[in-house]
Amino acid sequence: MFDLQYIRSQFPILNQQVNGKPLVYLDNAATSQKPISVLDSWQKYYTEINANVHRGIHTLSQLATEEMELSRRKIQKFINAKNDSEVIFTKGTTEGINLIAYSLTNLIKENDEIIISYLEHHSNIVPWQMLCERTGAKLKVIPMDENGILQLDFLDENLSEKTKIVSVNQVSNALGIVNPIEEIIAKTRAKSDAFIVIDGAQSAPHFKIDVQKMDCDFFVFSGHKLYAPMGTGILYGKEDVLNKIQPFHGGGEMIATCSFEKTTYADLPFKFEAGTPNVGGNIALGAAIDFIENIGQEQLQNHENALLDYAQKRLLEIEGLKIYGEKAHRTGVVSFNLEGVGISSDVGMILDKLGIAVRTGHHCTQPIMNFFDIAGTVRASFAVYNTFEEIDILAEGVKKAQRMLS
Ligand code: ALA
Repeated sequence: MFDLQYIRSQFPILNQQVNGKPLVYLDNAATSQKPISVLDSWQKYYTEINANVHRGIHTLSQLATEEMELSRRKIQKFINAKNDSEVIFTKGTTEGINLIAYSLTNLIKENDEIIISYLEHHSNIVPWQMLCERTGAKLKVIPMDENGILQLDFLDENLSEKTKIVSVNQVSNALGIVNPIEEIIAKTRAKSDAFIVIDGAQSAPHFKIDVQKMDCDFFVFSGHKLYAPMGTGILYGKEDVLNKIQPFHGGGEMIATCSFEKTTYADLPFKFEAGTPNVGGNIALGAAIDFIENIGQEQLQNHENALLDYAQKRLLEIEGLKIYGEKAHRTGVVSFNLEGVGISSDVGMILDKLGIAVRTGHHCTQPIMNFFDIAGTVRASFAVYNTFEEIDILAEGVKKAQRMLS
């Protein structure tokens, strides 16, 4: 049974007042809160285990290694990767995409093409622009319509043997739009040998991921949006692809042999994990996955979809409120503005006075804001612990902001 009260009781941070009002935390697309089990796992590591992994023969080092490798296997299962060696620990989605863009450098040449979409976060734009600068490749962008729906005819016209990388997000962080990645992947596979990169930062927290079924080459996500500590993240890569590409960071742990004349690289996944990892965080990420699986992904998704539907209904009752991507298939996010009443940050500040945490501004997606000719939006984003009452408080807060600002 889905027990929302119990779930909320697992997040002590929610039980506080902000500006004299009960906290209504609706900034989950930026980062989610952490349940007690994740906090305990983190604390247990630092109070009972703390030792470096894969290095020592001593008991604590072995224990740290076992726990972190157990977490890697939980993540493998969570995304249905074929092998745990395909699961690389990173510090987040941004690092994952930069790793891929760097590691592909020597496979990309002048006039090759990289395709992204209009709906990308800056972290899925800038690393590719940097790769283009290094190699002379060209960046192409799948356009969208006024509903935020990607125009896939573009792929029919632009995919070719020149296309070397296609990188898109599964869910837009700014608008919550669920992109048709199955169709994007199928079209790409049919017309090119491009590497397919899926940014799962905003999808992995909300629905079941199956990287084998998806048939992507890479899938990246962050731990901190998925109830785990900040500074954690995952890069999944297909084994043969990871074996083909060069490492990103050089250093300890990632070598098989090292001499001044020549270094050979370690097997997967260690080839991509130079330096001391965030052991406590990576173990706690495993605890976050347990937390999600104990609730059940279907239950979590049903609750979040119901919250989104209710939020959309309540907010659209407000005259002059526009939701961006209203007609598109979405998850977890409602992004809006009030006509003629100042900028999104003014609304955000009033909501904050009412204890309501939302994100305002461009959400690291300036091209989307430019498309709609706006400086930013107010974005409310949901997690499994949010309630329908909180949506009511949001709707009343937005009405109050409208009265104050108009
Ligand atoms: N990418 C995060 C967001 O959308 C930080 O807020």
